[in-house]
Amino acid sequence: MAAMSWTSAYVSVIALVALSIMRAIYTAVRLKKTMPPGPPGLPLLGNALQIGPLPWFKFTQWKEEFGTICYSVHYTTHRLTREIMLAGPIFSLNLAGQPVVIISDAEIAAEFLERRSKIYSSRPRFVIGNEVLTRGMFLPLLPANDMWRQMRRAIHDTMNTTTLSSRAMHTLQESSAAALTLHIMHNPVHFTQHILHASATTMLHMVYGWSPMRIEAEGAHVVEVVDDLVRRITEAAVPGLRLVELFPALLWLPECVAVWKREGREGYERGSAMFVRLMESVREDMRAGMAEPCLGVTLIQNEKYALSMLEQAWTAGTALAGGIDTTAAAMQVFILAMVLHPSAMRRAQQEIDSVVGRERLPVMADWQYLPYVHAMVREVLRWQSIAPMGAPRVSSQDDWYEGYFIPKGTIVIQNTWAINRDAEYFPDFDAFRPERYLDPSSSGPPIDAMPITHGYGHASFGAGRRICPGKDLANQSLFLACATLLWAFDIQPAVDENGQPIVPSSTECVDRGLFVQPAPFTCEFLPRGPEVPGIIQATT
Ligand code: HEM
Repeated sequence: MAAMSWTSAYVSVIALVALSIMRAIYTAVRLKKTMPPGPPGLPLLGNALQIGPLPWFKFTQWKEEFGTICYSVHYTTHRLTREIMLAGPIFSLNLAGQPVVIISDAEIAAEFLERRSKIYSSRPRFVIGNEVLTRGMFLPLLPANDMWRQMRRAIHDTMNTTTLSSRAMHTLQESSAAALTLHIMHNPVHFTQHILHASATTMLHMVYGWSPMRIEAEGAHVVEVVDDLVRRITEAAVPGLRLVELFPALLWLPECVAVWKREGREGYERGSAMFVRLMESVREDMRAGMAEPCLGVTLIQNEKYALSMLEQAWTAGTALAGGIDTTAAAMQVFILAMVLHPSAMRRAQQEIDSVVGRERLPVMADWQYLPYVHAMVREVLRWQSIAPMGAPRVSSQDDWYEGYFIPKGTIVIQNTWAINRDAEYFPDFDAFRPERYLDPSSSGPPIDAMPITHGYGHASFGAGRRICPGKDLANQSLFLACATLLWAFDIQPAVDENGQPIVPSSTECVDRGLFVQPAPFTCEFLPRGPEVPGIIQATT
């Protein structure tokens, strides 16, 4: 019996590999004829081997190159004149039979992801990430199904303006920023760990209603498990990185042959057990009448979401996992920007000193009076986007765009890196210049430097129905962290043994799959005055 099933599994794998090869040939031929033009690739593999690590750099290079190639080839005919404009901002790839469209223009991204959101709101199949590691319960990887809708609704209902503007939320975020400042003052070398802890503090409160004391006692373990799960999921989510993503039939292999399958199951069991435990503690708090308003309570109290207890646990766990590392990575970008751009730091500090003074730390209520710091948060998210390719979508039906055919099942990637560096909106895109978001003729709030982003001024939160549900929470956390750290410290490059500044790279990064963080760098945090330690300690 065992031998039989082995043989049939073997035959199925071969058959599926053969089918995949035929599909690759079919796609390669079809791509040439109808889809937006793209770089020539190898037979069968298409462009799969050309992309390499940090794909958004290659995509952005192709965006530039394709404008030129199409111009020189087609410049006289009417139909192809249009390609002159289109080929750069939108081009297609063939990843071993999988058609992929890369969009590097905000207008076109809005057309696909917002105006045609009915077609472009699903995700590609993530075999390891969605099926093995999270068993179809990790919202960012879910196809646009009922589970996705219900989970998203619950998160959206919790992260609403009422919660985010509540006094309790502001107090928590303010004390988290103050604690971050205190930890950095005592132990500046490990600033990235303190940042991660600060980000986790906000999320644990928002999701499970945890108090700062409880977070101090138990938070580190939760962060460690979540971090491990997120690392596994995001690494597995890169399209085409693992063979099983290209040949899902390999999913049938037994665990003794497929180590990734065993590791995936273990990852799931570890993450799931913790998410269930965390929700159980919310139920206990509710029974004891001690629960704070939070996502966990919303999920438990509302039958309308029609989620099982396990699905509720994963919804909460997803929000936690979605918020910790992303916000922490953006805070690291902020520190990097301060090290590399001291003039922006000085200008923000002048604004903070004139509005807040030197006798208290910044608070959320200062937000509207600190337009430069507000603009700085936007510039941090634009300058080095921590999700440079957003999260991939897949088209759920055949579609046409400007004469090009986009077949059902095409992976669509928003090249956020290129959009945030579109010279039309950001002429000096490499420079870190928060003032690009300010209207020089007024002292009002930041303006939208790129109009189609609904007031955010960059494309870093994605678009349409799958736009990041944590964007406003992240903006608040970033604002308070930036304002408080700049109130307290001059952030400077570290110096080497010869007293020379060690200047970190602005573009080197660690790819964490669906998001990136700056490559490790050193810097110094110099308290800006003798009042700093006392005021921080009094606030925490
Ligand atoms: C600086 C911080 C953050 C950035 C740059 C960021 C960016 C993104 C991006 C680009 C996406 C994909 C959107 C798309 O497909 O168009 C996303 C999705 C998501 N984000 Fe965030 N995010 C951040 C913080 C947060 C926070 C604080 C939360 C907490 C709730 C969160 C939860 C999620 C979830 C659950 C999704 C999946 C949405 C879906 O697939 O429907 N994110 N985020």
